[in-house]
Amino acid sequence: MVKVNCLNPISKVGTSKFTDNYEFTDNFEEANAVLVRSAAMHDMELSDNLLAVARAGAGVNNIPLDKCAEKGVVVFNTPGANANGVKELVLCGMLLASRDIIGGNKWVENNKEDENINKTMEKAKKNFAGNEIMGKKLGVIGLGAIGSLIANAATELGMEVYGYDPFISVDGAWRLSSEVKHVNTREEIYKECDFITVHTPLLDDTREMINKDTIAMMKDGVVILNFARDLLVCDDDMIAALESGKVKRYVTDFPNAKIAKAKNVIATPHLGASTEESEDNCAVMAVKELKDFIENGNIINS
Ligand code: MLT
Repeated sequence: MVKVNCLNPISKVGTSKFTDNYEFTDNFEEANAVLVRSAAMHDMELSDNLLAVARAGAGVNNIPLDKCAEKGVVVFNTPGANANGVKELVLCGMLLASRDIIGGNKWVENNKEDENINKTMEKAKKNFAGNEIMGKKLGVIGLGAIGSLIANAATELGMEVYGYDPFISVDGAWRLSSEVKHVNTREEIYKECDFITVHTPLLDDTREMINKDTIAMMKDGVVILNFARDLLVCDDDMIAALESGKVKRYVTDFPNAKIAKAKNVIATPHLGASTEESEDNCAVMAVKELKDFIENGNIINS
């Protein structure tokens, strides 16, 4: 019997794919396979029973890759399985940064007891005028599964899209719409774009890539979106840029204690992949990878 431990609640649609040879255990020590979403595993002792860890998500920075390599524990992730969920939230963030839906909605909430709300709103609405995204320039840094979906969708919305990725695969290049202008440096994006969205993994080269020096290259009033990893952005430099108005809005899925209090931030609590569809897709893919490894010895990230 193969013992499986779920370190986070994992979609039942996925876990139901395990067959009778598998049983769930709450005991991490005795598990042969672990399914994890966002739980940090760095401080956990890996037992000799453990054969594989599958992350129901794309990033693997919550998994101690060195420790796993030392112990011969195979690590899987599920690239692309939640890409559409993240794409939709990023597009939503871009629209929320452009149209004052949040302010307008708060006004309605505050005035909902007013019998004449349909009249008073005519005066109030001038405070909530916004801009359209059609014709604006969007820069997408990182053209993997998520970045390329966003770039393509933004072209459909009439945006002029610039994409940057030093490692774009042949498959990725084919997936990318010919409307997307593929640029060779991040600087071109910093200088040209009205909206900049980051979709890179957290690496030495990308850590705090949005900082005072890169922000200084950007247009006044730029909107920056981060639905990838919090440490891609230097918090202090972002807060200073929001204070000065250099950055008009920071839309992020990572509201840490500093960022949550800053002005002109639109933040969600790491919800990019939190849709029923994405959770099911990730779980199904993770379970498939684990089973294929345990039953057939295959080490394939779908
Ligand atoms: C990812 O890396 O794909 C996300 O962090 C997924 C999640 O929200 O669990």
